[in-house]
Amino acid sequence: MFNDSKAQWGNETMNNDYAFEMATSAVRFGVGVTREVGAELADQGKGHALVFTDANLRALSPVSTVLESLGEHRIRYSVFDRVRVEPSDESFCEAITAAQADNFDCIVAVGGGSTIDTAKAANLYSTYPADFLDYVNPPIGKGKPVPGPLKTLIAVPTTAGTGSETTGVAIFDLTRIHAKTGIAHRRLKPTLGLLDPENTRTQPPAVATSTGLDVLSHSVESYTTLPFDKRPLPARPILRPAYQGSNPISDVWSLEALRLVATYLRLAVADPENDEARAAMLLAASYAGIGFGNAGLHLPHGMSYAVSGLVRDYRAPGYGAGHPLVPHGISVILNAPAAFRFTARACPERHLKAAEILGAKINGARPEDAGKILAEQIIGFMRDLRIPNGLRALGYQTSDIPALVECTLPQHRVTKLSPRPFEPEDLAQIFSEAMVAW
Ligand SMILES: [Fe+2]
Repeated sequence: MFNDSKAQWGNETMNNDYAFEMATSAVRFGVGVTREVGAELADQGKGHALVFTDANLRALSPVSTVLESLGEHRIRYSVFDRVRVEPSDESFCEAITAAQADNFDCIVAVGGGSTIDTAKAANLYSTYPADFLDYVNPPIGKGKPVPGPLKTLIAVPTTAGTGSETTGVAIFDLTRIHAKTGIAHRRLKPTLGLLDPENTRTQPPAVATSTGLDVLSHSVESYTTLPFDKRPLPARPILRPAYQGSNPISDVWSLEALRLVATYLRLAVADPENDEARAAMLLAASYAGIGFGNAGLHLPHGMSYAVSGLVRDYRAPGYGAGHPLVPHGISVILNAPAAFRFTARACPERHLKAAEILGAKINGARPEDAGKILAEQIIGFMRDLRIPNGLRALGYQTSDIPALVECTLPQHRVTKLSPRPFEPEDLAQIFSEAMVAW
């Protein structure tokens, strides 16, 4: 039943982990479920909410529906609408200050991954104040665990991508060193995600493309991470990371997410009125979030943080962010084909399986071609969705590669889950191949 994992279980050593854990995420899915937010909080005994969103969404229906529902159930609220798309430590701090400004007993995040991540950070630091770097992932921060339970946080995603409503991770750009890093702990996980396909109707096609490609990579990366029993045994159970490596439970979620992506991503981008495709991608984002939230990610994400952190003047069409940015899903997928060509050697059968789900014929495929076959499938999606053809199209040049490698190396949380060990020269080669995708 567990095919390739089973062989590894028999080989475990005293120094490697022997267990994996399924951390659950509460989500409620349904057309119109946004209207339940007020009743949900009232039933939990809450009375004073801080609502996080961004300036673009402030006047749109997902936010107005939430505010109406809060009003109907006599929940007092304030709105913080200055969430930054691709947040930074400064924008997190502004949100934390807002959360500390009054006696809020609950938080509602309405938006994409940037908004939900910002709400998680505001929840953490307003509940357990600390120096900003205390909870940030090592080696950049101290990686202190979250001391106790946080305030109720309800996440209402308006993009089908990050799966942030299901994870305990908040990603931001540490401006001082131009590096993306994050805060990761199970207690950051939202109390409930309200998945309402009506809310992704407002998603511009460029956003549907980037977030959908992020889901694709979440699925493939989490399925191909280092297996859980190849990771070192933690000294105590509580130190077992949320990103614990691929395992039979996360595989279920990652593969089903990938099947949904294969069927629905192109349809959802082509026609925002395709209700079935939009709903399926919203589910896929959460499935993949549960998959990678328990297994982790590896090189495409580790490298993406360098790509987005070192952006110069690329302005993504369709984002209206007012500052240069590489959308997260784009920064991930541009590295993915070259990264999977590199990692396939570690577990070719898993790379082939992913390729097959995405549409490849793998009958008679040789294991040594697994990376190439998977890369071709992913490039097919990139071309069909008309994204920039490689890092060069975002303004990067060969001379940028040393800096890109330098910025990737501290991303231990994800890069150490690469199924194949790598050296800085390997990353340089992958970045070099990612300059032009096709
Ligand atoms: Fe992602």
